[in-house]
Amino acid sequence: MNNSRGGRRSCRSLYLGIAVVTFFLLFVYTPLPQNYDDQRDALVNHVTSAATGHKSSANASLPSLATTKSKYAYATFLAGDAHQQELADINDDNYFVAARILTYQILHAPETRSPAGIPFIVLVTKAVSEPKRHRLRLDGAIVIEAETITKPTWVEVETSTWQDVFDKLRLWELTQFDLITFLDGDTVLARPLDGVFNDTAVATRKTSPDIPRPHPGLLPPMPRTYAFASRPEMNTIHTYPPSEETHSYPNIAYLNAGFFVLKPSLDLLAYYLALLQLPDSFVPTLPEQNLLNEVHNWAGAMPWQTLGTEWNIHYPTKEDLDGGVASLHEKWWAPGDGEGLGGYLRGWRWRMEGFYQGREGGGKGHQ
Ligand SMILES: *[C@@H]1O[C@H](CO)[C@@H](O)[C@H](O)[C@H]1NC(C)=O
Ligand SMILES: *[C@@H]1O[C@H](CO)[C@@H](O)[C@H](O)[C@H]1NC(C)=O
Repeated sequence: MNNSRGGRRSCRSLYLGIAVVTFFLLFVYTPLPQNYDDQRDALVNHVTSAATGHKSSANASLPSLATTKSKYAYATFLAGDAHQQELADINDDNYFVAARILTYQILHAPETRSPAGIPFIVLVTKAVSEPKRHRLRLDGAIVIEAETITKPTWVEVETSTWQDVFDKLRLWELTQFDLITFLDGDTVLARPLDGVFNDTAVATRKTSPDIPRPHPGLLPPMPRTYAFASRPEMNTIHTYPPSEETHSYPNIAYLNAGFFVLKPSLDLLAYYLALLQLPDSFVPTLPEQNLLNEVHNWAGAMPWQTLGTEWNIHYPTKEDLDGGVASLHEKWWAPGDGEGLGGYLRGWRWRMEGFYQGREGGGKGHQ
């Protein structure tokens, strides 16, 4: 008994001794990193190669829908003219340059950029060339190709740049965002727009259950809730701020589709697309603007809401700019107000070019 107990005890001591020695040897000989900087440098190298772009990852690191966590987005729409040859220099396309100016203003320019870092989406049609898409991505925009929405034959469009205008409705597919503020490509900012996401008009509302639905049996159900806000179309002669009293609007209930805030919704998109298939369901002269006015008319179940006068103005004048409006719906290359706004608008074009040339080095920043 004693012997065997003593034997077990010495066995245990031996195991313990072996364990202690093994642990000690492992500790001494395990190849620990020589110092922590090695590890940190490896991490930093990895991150910077993704950000600045080694050859293999240059395009993978450009902005994309997958990498943004934002609940809000700004967006514009860029069509290509399938019937026209691509211009030799893409920067001779005024609408393309306008999208670049917006990208610069929303993402980079200190006086106008989004303080909250809200991303900017350029929704392009199939006809927009790869060099243009790539340039917009380098500028910082998220470029998405819109699946074509074929214009039904009953909708006749005279202006060639409006051929693909219904593709714009693809914005309602981007349900990863709570709200999207859409700006027509020919818009120039005067100050940041982030506050528009806080405008009471953009709140989600209940679709009225009581108002009779148009075209019974021919359209899918309306979504139970929606959010859609815009500004009324302007008279070219108006005051700032605009008002009914000063006759600034031809019809305060008729929205201008150059500036609106939407809540993406597949149900609402299905409703729009079904209406589009119904001949004469809206006046087709101003295609997507009239579709939106029809679905969201003030007597209907999903009326559009009116944003504050300060966010955007159509047919802007120098007085509107001096009055403090946040964005001007105007072509930078052909302002209706002539030289009143001409210098201001063209100035942004060259600031944009200069910014990227400076950032990218050399004199070829625009290519
Ligand atoms: C990035 O994309 C552009 C345009 O698609 C292409 O011309 C270029 O070769 C790509 N660069 C790399 C490193 O893959
Ligand atoms: C919008 O509202 C939120 C919450 O009240 C606030 O934190 C934010 O600063 C507001 N943004 C702007 C641009 O007014």
